[in-house]
Amino acid sequence: MRIYVSSPGKSIALFCLEIAVATGYLVVLQIVIGNIIGRGWYPLIKQIEGDKINLRLVDRSDARSIYRYAGDEDISRNTYIPHPYQLSDAYDFIKSTHSARRKKTGFHFGLENKENRQIIGMIGLLTINHALKNGEIGYWLARPFWGRGIMSEAVRMMLRFCFVEVKLHRVHAHVFPFNKTSIRLLEKVGFSREGLLREAFVKNGDYVDCYIYSILEDEWARQSTTL
Ligand SMILES: CC(C)(COP(=O)(O)OP(=O)(O)OC[C@H]1O[C@@H](n2cnc3c(N)ncnc32)[C@H](O)[C@@H]1OP(=O)(O)O)[C@@H](O)C(=O)NCCC(=O)NCCS
Repeated sequence: MRIYVSSPGKSIALFCLEIAVATGYLVVLQIVIGNIIGRGWYPLIKQIEGDKINLRLVDRSDARSIYRYAGDEDISRNTYIPHPYQLSDAYDFIKSTHSARRKKTGFHFGLENKENRQIIGMIGLLTINHALKNGEIGYWLARPFWGRGIMSEAVRMMLRFCFVEVKLHRVHAHVFPFNKTSIRLLEKVGFSREGLLREAFVKNGDYVDCYIYSILEDEWARQSTTL
C-alpha cells in the first residue's frame, strides 16, 4: 500500500512557513506547527494505492461517474443517498468533501478503478470527533463491481488511514439490519456489533432501526499484525 501526499498542500505549508519566517510572525508559525503536530498531516494525503483499487480525493471531473453509479436504487436503499440522484447532487457532494477536508470534520476518498481511473464508489470518514478521537465510516460501491472483495479492501485501507494517519481511537459504522452484505463485510474486517439503535434514524419519512458497529485501535492493531 502506497500513500501519496498532495503537492499543493505541501507548497501551501512551505509558503506559510516562508511567510512566517520572513515576517517574523512566530505566532503564525506556532499555529501551523501546532496544527500539524496536534491534528496530524493527514489532510495532505491525496491517494492511497491498494491491490484492487486506489483510494483518492475526488474533484469536479468525477461528478459524472458518481452521478452514474450513486443513482442506483440499491445504493439509496442501504444509505442516505437520495433517489433519484441528480448530477447537481454529485457536484454538491464533491464540494462538501472539499469543505469537510479543509475543516478536518470529515475525509472522503473515491474508489478509483485502476484500469481507467474512474471513480466506482466512495468511502468516507464522515464525522471526526477530535476530542474523543473517534469517527464514523460510510461507503458504497457501484453495483457492477459488487462481490469481488473491493469494499473489504477499501475498508481495511480506510481503517489504516483512520488509526495511523488521523490517529483515532475508535471507528464506528451504522448499518441497517437488512443489509446483510455490509454486516458481513464489517464483521469480516474486525468490527463488533454494539447493539441496535431503535428507531434512531428517519428514512423516507419513517423511523428506522440501525445496528451500530465499532472497532478500537488496539483491536485493529492486533488483527492487522496477524493478517
Ligand atoms: C455493501 C457493499 C459496499 C459491499 O461491497 P463489495 O465490494 O461487494 O463487498 P465485498 O465483496 O468486499 O464483501 C462482501 C461480503 O458479503 C458477503 N455477502 C454478499 N451478499 C451477502 C448476503 N446476502 N448475506 C450475507 N453475506 C453476503 C460476500 O460473500 C462477502 O463476504 P466474503 O468475502 O466472506 O465472501 C456494496 O454491496 C454496496 O455498495 N451496497 C450498497 C450500499 C451500502 O450498502 N453501503 C453500506 C451502508 S452500511
